[in-house]
Amino acid sequence: MKLNLGERFIVNNPLRAFVQRRVEGPLLKRMAGFESYPLCLEIGCGRGAGAEIIVEQFGAQRVIATDIDPEQIERAKKNLSPEFKDKIEFMVADAMALDKPDNKFDAVFSFGVIHHMEDWRKAVKEVSRVLKNGGELFFEEPLRTFTHCFTKDSLFGVVAAHPVGGMFGFDEFKNELRENNVDIINIKHFGNIAIFGVGRKRG
Ligand SMILES: C[S@@+](CC[C@H](N)C(=O)[O-])C[C@H]1O[C@@H](n2cnc3c(N)ncnc32)[C@H](O)[C@@H]1O
Repeated sequence: MKLNLGERFIVNNPLRAFVQRRVEGPLLKRMAGFESYPLCLEIGCGRGAGAEIIVEQFGAQRVIATDIDPEQIERAKKNLSPEFKDKIEFMVADAMALDKPDNKFDAVFSFGVIHHMEDWRKAVKEVSRVLKNGGELFFEEPLRTFTHCFTKDSLFGVVAAHPVGGMFGFDEFKNELRENNVDIINIKHFGNIAIFGVGRKRG
């Protein structure tokens, strides 16, 4: 689901990119199973900072960075620093129906995206499908206790409008990953509010 005005402001703010680069990237990297990930997919790339972080911090040689919103993809293309141009490709795509082959990527990244799906289970299924066996899923997601406070009906939908179909608790998320052959190898809980972690596809 596309962002509303409030969340668009938060996500497209340079401060968001700073936090993603200095806090979230390093935190996820410390949980990683491997030193580098040659071919990566990012879902819901927003303004595009995540794709650069994947190259800088996760050793990607190539990143396909996708978002459902064509405006965000245009913004990401404009923001891209010249030194990353031969490594990063931005494209419009729905993470619930990825036009990519099975077993393709060494890693998939969701920087706060799966909770934006109308059906988060579909996204988990797709992400697992395109991951190579042994590949890793990096995720940072707010949990239902947080997202349910920011729906289109709460606070007049000003801050964010999270879809009900994107709400999950940790156990539900973990079980859905497991049913899709992805086992969590590292996880950090921020209370009952958010999780940062890495899952690895079996096989
Ligand atoms: C909270 S923003 C996060 C953006 C960026 N990853 C970041 O961390 O700043 C969620 C992003 O997911 C995108 N999105 C929402 N639903 C999507 C879907 N079904 N497929 C792909 N992207 C989606 C939105 O357009 C938005 O850019």
